Amino acid sequence: MRLEGKVAIVTGAGSGMGEAIAHTFANEGALVAVLDVDEANGGRVAGAIGARARFVRCDVTNKADIDAAVAATERAFGRLDILINNAGASHINKPLLDIGEAEFERVFAVNVKGVFLFAQAAVPLMRRGGGGAIINIGSTAGLRPRPGLSAYNATKGAVHNLTKTLAVELAPARIRVCAIAPVATDTPLLPTFLGAADGQREKFIATVPLGRLAQPQDIANVALFLASDEAAFLTGNIVEVDGGRCV
Ligand SMILES: NC(=O)c1ccc[n+]([C@@H]2O[C@H](COP(=O)([O-])OP(=O)(O)OC[C@H]3O[C@@H](n4cnc5c(N)ncnc54)[C@H](O)[C@@H]3O)[C@@H](O)[C@H]2O)c1
Repeated sequence: MRLEGKVAIVTGAGSGMGEAIAHTFANEGALVAVLDVDEANGGRVAGAIGARARFVRCDVTNKADIDAAVAATERAFGRLDILINNAGASHINKPLLDIGEAEFERVFAVNVKGVFLFAQAAVPLMRRGGGGAIINIGSTAGLRPRPGLSAYNATKGAVHNLTKTLAVELAPARIRVCAIAPVATDTPLLPTFLGAADGQREKFIATVPLGRLAQPQDIANVALFLASDEAAFLTGNIVEVDGGRCV
């Protein structure tokens, strides 16, 4: 049990990577607050995990929701050791000139403001517990940006920068901050990245040296390592989980 006695918050845990991370953490002994704005899916995931999980409805763009979710986690589980900032949104793959202001503001609100506000809400509780680990889900989009995703790619660049900034700022409080940069991953969000044209999936796979897309469990396995005490001397790392795509 690599997370025995630890308490984790996973945002966007009702689907995709967040769902896999919540299950993996609970299987390794953590108590998990399953957060999502989607009540049906969040409740489904927490229910499937059972007694080690609690669903808390939370829109990560809303400060009152975030503060309430952190307080609910403390009431339920008594402490907070791990924060996984996973909730994310994208716009459909399309040219710069076709991306509307509202779409730009939405992806920045979910992907950047949400990560920032969650760190602000979680740090005091982690400090009281003597430290912790924050893991932000970035993207290869922030390291090797490709056309058609300009606003989304920019959000992930911001997430990587925020990760490194917080790593150095929070190190004295024994709070480690790392990011995971997944390549295209088989989740409900994937079609927004690939675009509508026929054969996009196969074309993309051909660019990945290990010859496949990422699966949510690939990301959960790395999140488990980064959240565990095995990663005690890692902070500020952006860990590519990409089958060699960014080489
Ligand atoms: N799928 C990919 O190819 C890929 C690649 C690299 C990075 N990512 C990143 O991985 C993370 C997880 O994405 P996924 O692919 O598992 O997608 P997903 O759509 O399967 O899951 C995202 C979850 O976030 C929730 N969510 C969205 N907006 C929210 C909000 N405002 N408040 C709370 N919850 C909200 C959704 O309800 C959903 O349950 C995201 O940050 C995404 O940008 C995805």
